[in-house]
Amino acid sequence: MRNMRIAIFASGNGSNAESVMRASREGRLEADVELVLSNNPKAGVLEKAQAYEVKHSVIESSDFNSDAEYVKTVFELLDAEKINFIALAGFLKMIQPELIERYNNRITNIHPALLPSFGGRGFYGKRVHEAVLAAGCKVSGVTVHLVDKEYDRGPIVAQTCVSVLDDDTPDTLAERVLIEEHKIYPDALQLFAENRVVVNGRKVTITGKA
Ligand code: GRF
Repeated sequence: MRNMRIAIFASGNGSNAESVMRASREGRLEADVELVLSNNPKAGVLEKAQAYEVKHSVIESSDFNSDAEYVKTVFELLDAEKINFIALAGFLKMIQPELIERYNNRITNIHPALLPSFGGRGFYGKRVHEAVLAAGCKVSGVTVHLVDKEYDRGPIVAQTCVSVLDDDTPDTLAERVLIEEHKIYPDALQLFAENRVVVNGRKVTITGKA
């Protein structure tokens, strides 16, 4: 059993979740993915979790009478697997402040653009790439960041650039960005597994390998 025990929260297809589960299985990521939580019963990520024999649950806040009850149940699910790290991977729901407090600097998100541009409410999925192309950007990319109480605004842990091509459509750009997402997310999580991430205000530094 490894020290870092990850829960992945995802709402959709789950290709990033898969890249993290694969890296964990192959030993490139020295952490165990113990749980996949989704708010969408039809999410493809659930089948992927099944294929990797990772426990998975669907939990929808609308099924609870209050936010407090929802959060309590999420905590119960996390505690049952002794989760000490949460990786958001296409999770289309705001993370509750209680979770952010308890998992302080232990929740990451992946975003398909170079934050702080093209992030925040409304910037998800294809819309991100449409906005990048509409702005005439020559580069886009991927950001892995820590999650705080503001959408897409937490300290940046890692970024990669992807060139924007003259004939790109939102779909072709998304496709090339996604390839980079699958590389950077396991690598960024490995930095946490190696205890190399130091957060100082908005700035993250990566210390040398011990
Ligand atoms: C990715 O583009 C990720 O950056 C964003 O949501 C998308 C999820 O894709 N947060 P997938 O479900 O991992 O395939």
